[in-house]
Amino acid sequence: MKLLITGANGLFGSKLAKLALDKDIQVYSSDIQGLSTFGNFVKLDVVNKAKVNETFQTIKPDVVVHAASLTDVDRCELNKELAWNINVEGTKNVAEASQQTECFLIYISTDYVFSGEKGYYVESDSPEPLNYYGLTKLEAETVATQTMPQSDLFIGRPSVIYGSTPATGKINFALWLIETLRKGERVRIAKDQWNTPTLNTNLAEMTLEAIERRLSGVYHICGATRLSRFEFARKIADCFELDKSLIDKVSSTDFPWVAQRPVDSSLDTSLSQRILRCKPLTIDRALEKLKQELTEKQTSF
Ligand SMILES: NC(=O)c1ccc[n+]([C@@H]2O[C@H](COP(=O)([O-])OP(=O)(O)OC[C@H]3O[C@@H](n4cnc5c(N)ncnc54)[C@H](OP(=O)(O)O)[C@@H]3O)[C@@H](O)[C@H]2O)c1
Repeated sequence: MKLLITGANGLFGSKLAKLALDKDIQVYSSDIQGLSTFGNFVKLDVVNKAKVNETFQTIKPDVVVHAASLTDVDRCELNKELAWNINVEGTKNVAEASQQTECFLIYISTDYVFSGEKGYYVESDSPEPLNYYGLTKLEAETVATQTMPQSDLFIGRPSVIYGSTPATGKINFALWLIETLRKGERVRIAKDQWNTPTLNTNLAEMTLEAIERRLSGVYHICGATRLSRFEFARKIADCFELDKSLIDKVSSTDFPWVAQRPVDSSLDTSLSQRILRCKPLTIDRALEKLKQELTEKQTSF
């Protein structure tokens, strides 16, 4: 099977590529920058429609996992044109090429399609994004749904991705926290924002199952535990035996964010728990797995 991944240098895409290679899948890792180390690398800007079409015609993938995105929420708010081009037009290009080549499409969306007023959102809840990033991701879901035959489209929504493979040049929340607490520095963490944090490995494994079983529809493929960011930080400190007293509990209004964040965009994972063999992990199991991965990598963490 040929698998094309967009955004394959990223936190999720790189882990997916690695795990897919372990399953002997023929992996084509594409990204806007030439840095990917897993599988065959293809330089691809998803905004470039001609290049997207050419890539699909050349590779003829059976499956594409579209994870390329402008993920910086504040940058999306400040540069709406760029966010629209990458997140919406890019997805349109990928979906149209998938439809034309009869390729199965997995689109990676986000919990930020929800307003965060309710929490524990189920797949059938009405999305109502608060910020421009969420709006573009929701619009991309719509574009993909309108373009693809229903049976050839899986939309997966994760929430706050973290993991042991840092995205190129970017560090995720868990690794940043571990590094900072190890140095004995204080951190200020919001007590009033809730999510269902997602280990990239768990997300990649659930995605691979969706590929293998050709599942279609919308699924919340995130961690199984709803936590405030502050609680998440304390869990990480516990697991890695770090000093919790260095974590200061603050209000989200203390952060000078440009874009508004949902208060509680946690996702209900009942559907994934019921249908998938690879289950969304509880926070304790996910952190244990992260610890094991970091130990195996013999990093300085
Ligand atoms: N991270 C989270 O907490 C989170 C939560 C919920 C949902 N998601 C969704 O999950 C998916 C994967 O997220 P992630 O954390 O792995 O993101 P990430 O680490 O930021 O990776 C995204 C990748 O896409 C690349 N990219 C940006 N513009 C592109 C373009 N025009 N053409 C091709 N590639 C392009 C990025 O390159 P540059 O770095 O050079 O821009 C980056 O390598 C995204 O769709 C995101 O919206 C993420």
